[in-house]
Amino acid sequence: MTDQPNAAMAEFWNGKGGKNWVSREVRLESSLKVFGQQAIDAGGISPGERILDIGFGCGETSIELAQKVGLKGQVHGVDISVAMVQAAEKKAREKAVANVSFECADAQTRTFPVDYYDLVFSRFGVMFFDDPISAFNNLYASLKPGGRLVFICWASRDQNAWVGLPLQVVAQHLGLPPAPASDEPGPFSLSDVTRVNGILSAAGFADISIESFQTSFVLGEDVDEALSFLMQLAPSGSAINNADADQETRARIALDMAELLKSYADDENVSMNASALLVTACKQD
Ligand SMILES: C[S@@+](CC[C@H](N)C(=O)[O-])C[C@H]1O[C@@H](n2cnc3c(N)ncnc32)[C@H](O)[C@@H]1O
Repeated sequence: MTDQPNAAMAEFWNGKGGKNWVSREVRLESSLKVFGQQAIDAGGISPGERILDIGFGCGETSIELAQKVGLKGQVHGVDISVAMVQAAEKKAREKAVANVSFECADAQTRTFPVDYYDLVFSRFGVMFFDDPISAFNNLYASLKPGGRLVFICWASRDQNAWVGLPLQVVAQHLGLPPAPASDEPGPFSLSDVTRVNGILSAAGFADISIESFQTSFVLGEDVDEALSFLMQLAPSGSAINNADADQETRARIALDMAELLKSYADDENVSMNASALLVTACKQD
């Protein structure tokens, strides 16, 4: 680990985090699409615009945004993970999308062109900064006067059954550390509306709006797929991995987790309640 900003998150997303995400790309994309759609709809995107997509993962939102702005527009994605950049570039080539580019960089510190973008966008990619005011101020500088910020991030753990219920199962088998502080970089670091307002105001943004968005989070098409997702990814998977649980313990957790999942399965999929925040703001003219 170094003193570099975001060193821990860079290590995570270039290690296990990125590897697991890329290997479950299809499942994640299908589960997260509904959230991204909210943000895209709130973006008020017009043909010809320039968009910066932060923490783009496997590039799906960047590609969709590029198709929306058309060939006179441009989308640039920035992600801290090499594996994500490679996955996104492959996808853009396969789909023959020419007006999208991807870069491996830290959005908190990367020097962007000033007053350049019409929209800074993110689907679940802006919760990992160790200095969020500085990161959002950096993104603010990249926007044209009047430019917009739109992102979707998770509401609190308590409002996300797909996080809390599986973690309760894990806690029956492993001594879990206390939940991280609410301002620690991670999936829930922007779940407090007052904190988000404070960060964005301090970063210079105006007209800040934060709305709650509730829906179901699809964990898998069936119990097996949902189980594999919760055992390896999601906060439950991270808790199991961080505790370095042995095979026997993992097997016992999996049995109980499968029981839980059965009660959330129907003919179509296995899903649990989820809650996110849709955040919009702009740079003053
Ligand atoms: C939860 S994933 C979301 C990925 C994608 N937006 C999606 O919705 O599928 C978070 C992403 O943010 C990226 N990320 C984390 N910290 C970052 C930083 N400081 N700068 C740029 N990207 C970052 C990670 O590498 C990862 O791809």
